[in-house]
Amino acid sequence: MKNAVLVTGGSRGIGKAICQVLARRGWIVLVNYQKNEQAALAVRDAIREGGGESEIFQADVADREQVKAMLAQIKERGYWVNALVNNAGITRDKLLPMMSGEEWESVIATNLNSAFYCIKEVIQKMIVRKNGCIVNVASVSGIRGQAGQSNYGAAKAGMLALTRSLAREVGRYNIRVNAVAPGFIDTDMLTAMNQDESIKAMLEETRNNHVPLKRFGKAEEVANVVSFLLSAEASYMTGQAIVVDGGLTL
Ligand code: NAI
Repeated sequence: MKNAVLVTGGSRGIGKAICQVLARRGWIVLVNYQKNEQAALAVRDAIREGGGESEIFQADVADREQVKAMLAQIKERGYWVNALVNNAGITRDKLLPMMSGEEWESVIATNLNSAFYCIKEVIQKMIVRKNGCIVNVASVSGIRGQAGQSNYGAAKAGMLALTRSLAREVGRYNIRVNAVAPGFIDTDMLTAMNQDESIKAMLEETRNNHVPLKRFGKAEEVANVVSFLLSAEASYMTGQAIVVDGGLTL
Protein backbone atom coordinates (compact mmCIF):
# COMPACT_ATOMS: atom_id res chain seq x y z
CA MET A 1 0.00 0.00 0.00
CA LYS A 2 1.20 3.51 -0.84
CA ASN A 3 0.54 6.72 1.04
CA ALA A 4 -1.43 9.25 -1.01
CA VAL A 5 -3.36 12.49 -0.72
CA LEU A 6 -7.06 12.61 -1.63
CA VAL A 7 -8.30 15.98 -2.91
CA THR A 8 -12.09 16.33 -3.16
CA GLY A 9 -13.38 18.41 -6.07
CA GLY A 10 -9.93 18.19 -7.63
CA SER A 11 -10.82 18.57 -11.30
CA ARG A 12 -10.92 22.37 -11.45
CA GLY A 13 -10.31 25.64 -9.65
CA ILE A 14 -8.58 25.59 -6.29
CA GLY A 15 -8.83 21.77 -6.08
CA LYS A 16 -7.03 21.36 -9.40
CA ALA A 17 -4.28 23.76 -8.32
CA ILE A 18 -3.92 21.81 -5.05
CA CYS A 19 -3.51 18.56 -7.04
CA GLN A 20 -0.87 20.14 -9.29
CA VAL A 21 1.14 21.72 -6.47
CA LEU A 22 1.04 18.57 -4.31
CA ALA A 23 2.15 16.41 -7.25
CA ARG A 24 5.12 18.74 -7.78
CA ARG A 25 6.01 18.27 -4.11
CA GLY A 26 6.09 14.50 -4.61
CA TRP A 27 2.66 13.46 -3.36
CA ILE A 28 0.73 10.65 -5.03
CA VAL A 29 -2.48 12.51 -5.86
CA LEU A 30 -5.95 10.93 -5.82
CA VAL A 31 -8.28 13.30 -7.67
CA ASN A 32 -11.94 13.12 -6.64
CA TYR A 33 -14.47 14.53 -9.11
CA GLN A 34 -18.23 14.55 -9.23
CA LYS A 35 -19.21 14.79 -12.91
CA ASN A 36 -16.51 16.05 -15.24
CA GLU A 37 -14.43 12.95 -15.95
CA GLN A 38 -12.60 14.64 -18.85
CA ALA A 39 -11.39 17.46 -16.61
CA ALA A 40 -10.30 14.98 -13.91
CA LEU A 41 -8.46 12.88 -16.50
CA ALA A 42 -6.68 16.00 -17.74
CA VAL A 43 -5.46 16.75 -14.20
CA ARG A 44 -4.32 13.13 -13.78
CA ASP A 45 -2.58 13.01 -17.16
CA ALA A 46 -0.74 16.29 -16.58
CA ILE A 47 0.56 14.93 -13.28
CA ARG A 48 1.67 11.69 -14.95
CA GLU A 49 3.35 13.61 -17.77
CA GLY A 50 5.28 15.52 -15.11
CA GLY A 51 6.57 12.20 -13.75
CA GLY A 52 4.11 11.96 -10.86
CA GLU A 53 1.56 9.34 -9.83
CA SER A 54 -2.17 10.07 -9.89
CA GLU A 55 -5.55 8.35 -10.13
CA ILE A 56 -9.09 9.69 -10.44
CA PHE A 57 -12.10 8.64 -8.33
CA GLN A 58 -15.69 9.63 -9.03
CA ALA A 59 -18.04 10.39 -6.13
CA ASP A 60 -20.58 12.96 -5.06
CA VAL A 61 -19.03 13.72 -1.69
CA ALA A 62 -22.34 15.02 -0.37
CA ASP A 63 -23.56 11.42 -0.52
CA ARG A 64 -22.23 9.25 2.29
CA GLU A 65 -22.64 5.95 0.43
CA GLN A 66 -20.71 7.27 -2.57
CA VAL A 67 -17.90 8.43 -0.28
CA LYS A 68 -17.76 4.98 1.32
CA ALA A 69 -17.63 3.31 -2.10
CA MET A 70 -14.87 5.69 -3.25
CA LEU A 71 -12.70 4.96 -0.22
CA ALA A 72 -13.21 1.21 -0.74
CA GLN A 73 -12.04 1.60 -4.34
CA ILE A 74 -9.02 3.63 -3.27
CA LYS A 75 -8.03 0.87 -0.87
CA GLU A 76 -8.54 -1.80 -3.53
CA ARG A 77 -6.22 0.14 -5.83
CA GLY A 78 -3.53 -0.03 -3.12
CA TYR A 79 -3.54 3.41 -1.51
CA TRP A 80 -3.73 4.64 2.09
CA VAL A 81 -5.17 8.12 2.33
CA ASN A 82 -2.70 9.57 4.80
CA ALA A 83 -3.58 13.10 3.74
CA LEU A 84 -7.03 14.48 2.95
CA VAL A 85 -7.96 17.85 1.48
CA ASN A 86 -11.67 18.61 1.85
CA ASN A 87 -11.98 21.10 -0.99
CA ALA A 88 -15.30 20.34 -2.77
CA GLY A 89 -17.78 23.15 -2.37
CA ILE A 90 -20.69 25.00 -3.93
CA THR A 91 -22.47 28.29 -3.40
CA ARG A 92 -26.21 28.95 -3.69
CA ASP A 93 -26.26 32.61 -2.70
CA LYS A 94 -29.60 34.12 -1.74
CA LEU A 95 -30.83 36.46 0.97
CA LEU A 96 -32.21 34.25 3.70
CA PRO A 97 -35.88 35.27 3.38
CA MET A 98 -35.77 34.08 -0.24
CA MET A 99 -33.59 31.00 0.40
CA SER A 100 -35.24 27.62 -0.19
CA GLY A 101 -34.73 24.62 2.05
CA GLU A 102 -32.98 22.91 -0.83
CA GLU A 103 -30.53 25.83 -1.21
CA TRP A 104 -29.73 25.63 2.49
CA GLU A 105 -29.43 21.86 2.64
CA SER A 106 -27.41 21.33 -0.54
CA VAL A 107 -24.78 23.87 0.56
CA ILE A 108 -24.49 22.35 4.04
CA ALA A 109 -24.32 18.85 2.54
CA THR A 110 -21.68 19.65 -0.08
CA ASN A 111 -19.47 21.95 1.97
CA LEU A 112 -19.75 20.50 5.47
CA ASN A 113 -21.30 17.02 5.57
CA SER A 114 -18.87 15.95 2.85
CA ALA A 115 -15.93 16.71 5.14
CA PHE A 116 -17.48 14.59 7.90
CA TYR A 117 -18.10 11.70 5.48
CA CYS A 118 -14.56 11.75 4.08
CA ILE A 119 -12.91 12.13 7.48
CA LYS A 120 -15.00 9.25 8.88
CA GLU A 121 -13.67 6.94 6.17
CA VAL A 122 -9.98 7.72 6.70
CA ILE A 123 -9.50 8.74 10.34
CA GLN A 124 -9.52 5.28 11.93
CA LYS A 125 -6.62 4.12 9.79
CA MET A 126 -4.75 7.38 10.40
CA ILE A 127 -5.13 6.78 14.16
CA VAL A 128 -3.90 3.21 13.96
CA ARG A 129 -0.95 4.20 11.80
CA LYS A 130 -0.27 7.38 13.82
CA ASN A 131 0.12 9.15 10.50
CA GLY A 132 -2.31 11.63 9.05
CA CYS A 133 -2.93 15.18 7.99
CA ILE A 134 -6.17 16.92 7.04
CA VAL A 135 -6.74 20.33 5.46
CA ASN A 136 -10.25 21.75 5.21
CA VAL A 137 -10.90 24.45 2.64
CA ALA A 138 -13.15 26.93 4.43
CA SER A 139 -13.70 30.59 3.53
CA VAL A 140 -13.54 34.06 5.05
CA SER A 141 -17.33 33.80 4.76
CA GLY A 142 -17.14 31.36 7.67
CA ILE A 143 -15.27 33.91 9.77
CA ARG A 144 -17.26 37.06 9.09
CA GLY A 145 -20.77 37.55 7.77
CA GLN A 146 -21.48 37.94 4.07
CA ALA A 147 -24.98 38.96 2.99
CA GLY A 148 -26.49 36.29 0.74
CA GLN A 149 -24.28 33.54 2.14
CA SER A 150 -25.96 32.44 5.38
CA ASN A 151 -25.96 28.85 4.11
CA TYR A 152 -22.38 28.94 2.84
CA GLY A 153 -21.07 30.91 5.83
CA ALA A 154 -22.72 28.48 8.24
CA ALA A 155 -21.15 25.52 6.43
CA LYS A 156 -17.69 27.12 6.35
CA ALA A 157 -17.89 28.21 10.01
CA GLY A 158 -18.87 24.62 10.75
CA MET A 159 -15.75 23.44 8.94
CA LEU A 160 -13.58 25.72 11.06
CA ALA A 161 -15.17 24.39 14.27
CA LEU A 162 -14.77 20.83 12.98
CA THR A 163 -11.09 21.58 12.30
CA ARG A 164 -10.47 22.79 15.86
CA SER A 165 -12.41 20.04 17.65
CA LEU A 166 -10.90 17.24 15.58
CA ALA A 167 -7.40 18.70 16.05
CA ARG A 168 -7.90 18.37 19.81
CA GLU A 169 -9.17 14.79 19.48
CA VAL A 170 -6.46 13.34 17.26
CA GLY A 171 -3.31 15.35 18.02
CA ARG A 172 -2.08 12.60 20.33
CA TYR A 173 -2.04 10.22 17.34
CA ASN A 174 0.28 12.45 15.32
CA ILE A 175 -2.61 13.67 13.14
CA ARG A 176 -2.76 17.37 12.29
CA VAL A 177 -5.97 19.09 11.20
CA ASN A 178 -5.87 22.60 9.76
CA ALA A 179 -7.94 24.85 7.52
CA VAL A 180 -7.41 27.53 4.92
CA ALA A 181 -9.89 30.36 4.62
CA PRO A 182 -9.61 31.95 1.17
CA GLY A 183 -11.02 35.35 0.31
CA PHE A 184 -11.96 36.09 -3.31
CA ILE A 185 -10.08 33.69 -5.58
CA ASP A 186 -10.32 33.84 -9.36
CA THR A 187 -12.05 30.53 -10.25
CA ASP A 188 -15.28 29.34 -11.91
CA MET A 189 -16.99 29.97 -8.56
CA LEU A 190 -16.16 33.66 -8.82
CA THR A 191 -17.03 33.74 -12.54
CA ALA A 192 -20.46 32.32 -11.71
CA MET A 193 -20.98 35.04 -9.09
CA ASN A 194 -19.97 37.65 -11.70
CA GLN A 195 -22.97 36.69 -13.87
CA ASP A 196 -25.16 38.75 -11.56
CA GLU A 197 -24.62 42.47 -12.30
CA SER A 198 -25.19 43.65 -8.72
CA ILE A 199 -22.81 41.02 -7.31
CA LYS A 200 -20.26 41.90 -10.01
CA ALA A 201 -20.38 45.56 -8.96
CA MET A 202 -20.03 44.55 -5.30
CA LEU A 203 -17.01 42.35 -6.14
CA GLU A 204 -15.29 45.14 -8.07
CA GLU A 205 -15.91 47.58 -5.25
CA THR A 206 -14.53 45.07 -2.74
CA ARG A 207 -11.42 44.42 -4.83
CA ASN A 208 -10.69 48.10 -5.40
CA ASN A 209 -11.48 49.43 -1.93
CA HIS A 210 -11.19 46.58 0.56
CA VAL A 211 -8.47 44.21 -0.66
CA PRO A 212 -5.11 45.78 0.24
CA LEU A 213 -3.36 43.79 -2.49
CA LYS A 214 -5.91 45.25 -5.01
CA ARG A 215 -6.55 42.01 -6.84
CA PHE A 216 -8.30 38.68 -6.41
CA GLY A 217 -6.21 35.67 -5.49
CA LYS A 218 -5.05 32.88 -7.80
CA ALA A 219 -5.92 29.25 -7.11
CA GLU A 220 -2.21 28.45 -6.82
CA GLU A 221 -1.88 30.97 -4.00
CA VAL A 222 -4.33 28.93 -1.93
CA ALA A 223 -2.78 25.64 -3.08
CA ASN A 224 0.67 26.72 -1.87
CA VAL A 225 -0.69 27.25 1.65
CA VAL A 226 -2.47 23.87 1.59
CA SER A 227 0.78 22.28 0.48
CA PHE A 228 2.65 23.98 3.33
CA LEU A 229 0.08 22.78 5.89
CA LEU A 230 0.46 19.21 4.63
CA SER A 231 4.24 19.37 4.72
CA ALA A 232 6.70 18.61 7.50
CA GLU A 233 7.42 22.35 7.56
CA ALA A 234 4.09 22.77 9.37
CA SER A 235 4.74 19.88 11.76
CA TYR A 236 3.89 21.90 14.90
CA MET A 237 0.71 23.44 13.49
CA THR A 238 -2.73 22.02 14.19
CA GLY A 239 -6.23 23.39 14.66
CA GLN A 240 -5.35 26.54 12.71
CA ALA A 241 -7.21 28.45 10.03
CA ILE A 242 -4.87 30.30 7.69
CA VAL A 243 -6.57 33.21 5.94
CA VAL A 244 -5.52 33.69 2.29
CA ASP A 245 -7.41 36.81 1.25
CA GLY A 246 -5.01 39.56 0.13
CA GLY A 247 -5.72 41.35 3.40
CA LEU A 248 -9.52 41.59 2.94
CA THR A 249 -10.34 40.71 6.55
CA LEU A 250 -7.49 42.65 8.19
P1 NAI B 1 -15.14 25.62 -8.23
O1 NAI B 1 -16.61 25.73 -8.35
O2 NAI B 1 -14.29 26.03 -9.38
O3 NAI B 1 -14.69 24.16 -7.79
C1 NAI B 1 -15.39 23.41 -6.85
C2 NAI B 1 -15.09 21.97 -7.10
O4 NAI B 1 -15.87 21.17 -6.19
C3 NAI B 1 -15.48 21.54 -8.51
O5 NAI B 1 -14.48 20.70 -9.03
C4 NAI B 1 -16.76 20.77 -8.29
O6 NAI B 1 -17.00 19.79 -9.25
C5 NAI B 1 -16.49 20.16 -6.94
N1 NAI B 1 -17.71 19.71 -6.29
C6 NAI B 1 -18.82 20.43 -6.04
N2 NAI B 1 -19.75 19.66 -5.48
C7 NAI B 1 -19.22 18.40 -5.38
C8 NAI B 1 -19.68 17.16 -4.89
N3 NAI B 1 -20.91 17.06 -4.39
N4 NAI B 1 -18.87 16.08 -4.95
C9 NAI B 1 -17.62 16.19 -5.46
N5 NAI B 1 -17.12 17.35 -5.94
C10 NAI B 1 -17.90 18.44 -5.90
O7 NAI B 1 -14.79 26.47 -6.95
P2 NAI B 1 -13.39 26.84 -6.27
O8 NAI B 1 -13.34 28.31 -6.21
O9 NAI B 1 -12.28 26.10 -6.85
O10 NAI B 1 -13.70 26.32 -4.78
C11 NAI B 1 -12.95 25.32 -4.12
C12 NAI B 1 -13.17 25.47 -2.64
O11 NAI B 1 -12.70 26.75 -2.23
C13 NAI B 1 -14.65 25.40 -2.23
O12 NAI B 1 -14.77 24.70 -1.02
C14 NAI B 1 -15.01 26.85 -2.04
O13 NAI B 1 -16.08 27.01 -1.16
C15 NAI B 1 -13.71 27.40 -1.49
N6 NAI B 1 -13.57 28.83 -1.62
C16 NAI B 1 -13.53 29.47 -2.85
C17 NAI B 1 -13.40 30.82 -2.92
C18 NAI B 1 -13.35 31.57 -4.21
O14 NAI B 1 -13.38 32.80 -4.20
N7 NAI B 1 -13.27 30.92 -5.35
C19 NAI B 1 -13.32 31.64 -1.71
C20 NAI B 1 -13.35 30.90 -0.49
C21 NAI B 1 -13.46 29.55 -0.46
